[in-house]
Amino acid sequence: MTTHSLFLLLMNLIALRYYATTTEALATTSSRIAVIGGGASGIFAAIAAAQNGHNVTVLEAAAKTLTKVQISGGGRCNVMHNASRPVPDLLQQYPRGQRELQGLFQKRFRPEECRAWFEQHGVALKTEADGRMFPVTDSSQTVMDALLQAAAQARVKIRTRCRVQTLHKPNNDQPFFVSVVDKSVSDDGVVSECYDAVILATGSMPLGYQLAESVGHSLVKTVPSLFTLNADEAVRPGGVLHGLSGVSVPLGRVSYWPPNTEPVRKKVLHEQEGPLLITHYGLSGPAALRVSAFGARTLAEHSYKGTLKIHWAPSFGSSVEDIFDQLWSMTTSNPRKTISTVCPLIRADPVTGTVTTAIPRRLWSALVQAAGVDEAAVWGGVSKKVVRQLAMQVAECPITMTNKGTFKEEFVTAGGVPLKEIDMTRMESKVCPGLFLCGEVINVDGVTGGFNFLNAWGTGYVAGNAVGESIRQAA
Ligand SMILES: Cc1cc2nc3c(=O)[nH]c(=O)nc-3n(C[C@H](O)[C@H](O)[C@H](O)COP(=O)(O)OP(=O)(O)OC[C@H]3O[C@@H](n4cnc5c(N)ncnc54)[C@H](O)[C@@H]3O)c2cc1C
Ligand SMILES: *[C@@H]1O[C@H](CO)[C@@H](O)[C@H](O)[C@H]1NC(C)=O
Ligand SMILES: *[C@@H]1O[C@H](CO)[C@@H](O)[C@H](O)[C@H]1NC(C)=O
Repeated sequence: MTTHSLFLLLMNLIALRYYATTTEALATTSSRIAVIGGGASGIFAAIAAAQNGHNVTVLEAAAKTLTKVQISGGGRCNVMHNASRPVPDLLQQYPRGQRELQGLFQKRFRPEECRAWFEQHGVALKTEADGRMFPVTDSSQTVMDALLQAAAQARVKIRTRCRVQTLHKPNNDQPFFVSVVDKSVSDDGVVSECYDAVILATGSMPLGYQLAESVGHSLVKTVPSLFTLNADEAVRPGGVLHGLSGVSVPLGRVSYWPPNTEPVRKKVLHEQEGPLLITHYGLSGPAALRVSAFGARTLAEHSYKGTLKIHWAPSFGSSVEDIFDQLWSMTTSNPRKTISTVCPLIRADPVTGTVTTAIPRRLWSALVQAAGVDEAAVWGGVSKKVVRQLAMQVAECPITMTNKGTFKEEFVTAGGVPLKEIDMTRMESKVCPGLFLCGEVINVDGVTGGFNFLNAWGTGYVAGNAVGESIRQAA
């Protein structure tokens, strides 16, 4: 017998004795619920459960709760996404969980209800042009204050510096035994406590996944999501992106090709559109982040290496041939104009007359150079072959991806407790009744823009409202 299992056995013996002495009192008091993890989802779940009259304790390992809420969105907290967007649209933003979150967003906690919750709790929200919703104060503190005040009002007990070490339920008729390293008691003080139900809201902490496994859950391997795409060679002198840091493209298309798949043209795996931003390291912006999210698993398998093909102006035609046709027409319409100075892919708004250029000037010059076009060349003086090369740079610009970078505003973990092991209508475990799961610990993650919090609040809300019912049913 290992020391670890000996320890577990000992803990359970202590816990059983504790249970024997308190079991009579249990019938008369309200249900005791432990929420493991005082993050976004755990606090939201705790509030809901306490508002239903339960005795709720949040056990938080860190010195304070809601750390990620505080730092999120660059300190502004991107609370959620445009609640008026149709639900099918919102669901599209979840690489994992798309199908399973439908019931949540359609009826159990609609984004509109989520918005109303925050407004009612004193967090006035604004929606930015890209759909991200922030508190009007532009401060995550407003969101934290509202959550902690609601928790206090509902009499949620919050214990920080309490790391849950083990979770155990001997059988269906018995409560949960939870061993907690409570630093407020002593530095190595392990306390064993017992609860009628447990909400697991440990986010992406490894120990949380282990707790889920220890009560019988399997795990979908975890990999990072929402990262920038590093392209060391392209940003070096001589590379196509060199010196372009800060340049953004209003609409680009990025596709990822794993290494050595070039000849097999159908092998393109992840293709996404959206605004693109060139950085010192490579590519960022919504389109790049979407590739990182939808391709999270594939990219991990290939150690974040492969080829990115960038279409810098997909709204002007999808294929190289489409772009070629438009560029080629310049040879007759504007034969005297210098190629490198102005990108001809421009469009005037029929109403306002505002002219928008698909490709910013500095990027255009870089593409012209990469295509091997002479600086001084005019449209009238180039061959079909050269124009085709330029069209290739516009529509299929090849960039070698060398690694993943970090997107400081938001990141998330893909993978976790499989959704098929969870009753999504209640967020209750199917393998361990009385255990509820919410937030990032489950296999749900969204793209950037407030979708990850939307999942945290929503699944937390459902778990917090369902947790009491299960105990009443059992009683
Ligand atoms: C820098 C950054 C910025 C972000 N910005 C945004 C954004 O603007 N919009 C958005 O939608 N999403 C954002 N996200 C993602 C979002 O923060 C998470 O998806 C969300 O916080 C998940 O909520 P959660 O409650 O599941 O987990 P967390 O918020 O991570 O909370 C989990 C908590 O559990 C505690 N815990 C873990 N294990 C134990 C244990 N064994 N015992 C006791 N306690 C434990 C942890 O200490 C932690 O406090 C951001 C993430 C990061 C890292
Ligand atoms: C709530 O539960 C804790 C232990 O889990 C106990 O110490 C406390 O007395 C309970 N409070 C109420 C109001 O029942
Ligand atoms: C939010 O979404 C709705 C529906 O798609 C749209 O009409 C509205 O303009 C959006 N709001 C903002 C601020 O983008």
